[in-house]
Amino acid sequence: MFNLTSIESIKTGLSYGDVLLIPRKTSINSRRDVSTETLIAKKLKLKVPIISANMDTVTESTMAISMARQGGLGIIHRFMAIDRQAREVEKVKRAEAYIIEKPYTIAKEASLGQAKEDMRKLGVSGLLVASSSGKLEGLISRRDIRFKTDDEDRVSKIMTKKSDLILGAEGIGIDDAIKLLDKNKLEKLPLVDKNGVIKGLITAKDLERFTNTASAKDSRGRLLVGGAIGTKGDFVERALALADASVDILVLDVAHGHSDSVIRAIKRIKSEIDDVPLIAGNVATKEATEDLIDAGADCIKVGIGPGAACTTRLVTGSGMPQFSAVVDCAQIAQKRGIPIIADGGIKNSGDVTKALAGGANAVMIGSLLAGTDESPGYFLVRDGIKYKAYRGMASLGANISRKQLDKMDIDPNEILEIVPEGVESSVPYRGAVSEVISQIMGGVHSGMSYCGAGTLDELRKNAKFIMLTTNGAAESYQKLSR
Ligand code: XMP
Repeated sequence: MFNLTSIESIKTGLSYGDVLLIPRKTSINSRRDVSTETLIAKKLKLKVPIISANMDTVTESTMAISMARQGGLGIIHRFMAIDRQAREVEKVKRAEAYIIEKPYTIAKEASLGQAKEDMRKLGVSGLLVASSSGKLEGLISRRDIRFKTDDEDRVSKIMTKKSDLILGAEGIGIDDAIKLLDKNKLEKLPLVDKNGVIKGLITAKDLERFTNTASAKDSRGRLLVGGAIGTKGDFVERALALADASVDILVLDVAHGHSDSVIRAIKRIKSEIDDVPLIAGNVATKEATEDLIDAGADCIKVGIGPGAACTTRLVTGSGMPQFSAVVDCAQIAQKRGIPIIADGGIKNSGDVTKALAGGANAVMIGSLLAGTDESPGYFLVRDGIKYKAYRGMASLGANISRKQLDKMDIDPNEILEIVPEGVESSVPYRGAVSEVISQIMGGVHSGMSYCGAGTLDELRKNAKFIMLTTNGAAESYQKLSR
């Protein structure tokens, strides 16, 4: 005999769309008066509780750099060779050093045409002019070439000579560099040693970014970045390579995180790497949250099947409505002092506020960010409208790409055996990710003021939800077409 489920024992599961936050008296005067600072692991603080998903159509270094500059975080996906993923992490860590240690140079004998071509190809607005022994001879920048038309002219004729440049000493501190740039209204400050050999370059643009306090940064002022790993094959090697590249957080991410193999993998990673926090998931229940915390996870990622490109619930019949999953997992995680991330199913800024109010410390987003300039890939045009590709990481195409990473010749039978749990699709082009994040956060700030909350802790404390009926949902979401 076995126990059959009784109808009475079946719980109601709620999605974001099934609930609203009840407005309450507020003393928040301005929507800017709120702080969304959050911890996603001990010592890992974000000012914006949004994380871009570790998917191959969402997060590589360009997205991660932009997310960290907004105060959020990007997780570099793992569907690439280990060394490439480590390089992507390094690109983020190097994006905001205030000293360019190896600035691009050109010889003074080179032509103006060559200098223009180098600047265009390298995407820089100036080149240091160096002798064959690496000594600084001058600087050629856009200002010098603006009205010069003869591409055969030599760089030496056009450049600003060393004697007319303000220089910084090797090892100059940030405050002194700012003073020099500010006092002399400089765009570029070449650094040289006592023999005049080039030792670096500081640009006003980099310094401006570096001093941007909104960014998510590590203790050395570098942007924060995460990297994803799996639980099979070379996952330990991958984690070690990411740690070597100075990754700030690892994300052990599989579709069904409540499994023996994930628990084993968490223990293994924690025993090999003790100084990089580990997010583990995905899960959707209290028991799973407890088990992964017991195994050593520093943060739990919640979400089984809510994602826009996920078909797990259709294909397997398994999953959990996301709002209920977040609330359940948060209750256990909070008791244990462990943060959680609500992953997937965010369709608008209101969903972010609901997730945070329900107990999430941050949300992870895929589809809403996939249409931005910073996601990998180009946009496509259909009927005059721009789109960008977006695919589930368990879709057929993503599964095939993964197999191709290991070997180019795939047996067709292997492809027939794949049971996809995701789709390959596209999302509307949305421009810069900074605009998308700014709209989402504007909505969250406003949502917090409706709850009388100045911080995320207050939001969680003050939150009272009401469940919607079919008519309540229609009244809330069915609006005139724009
Ligand atoms: P959104 O809704 O923001 O969700 O697009 C992003 C999250 O979706 C998950 N994901 C998948 N889930 N099959 C799934 O069941 C898939 O193929 C798939 N790909 C991504 C993932 O958790 C991501 O962060």
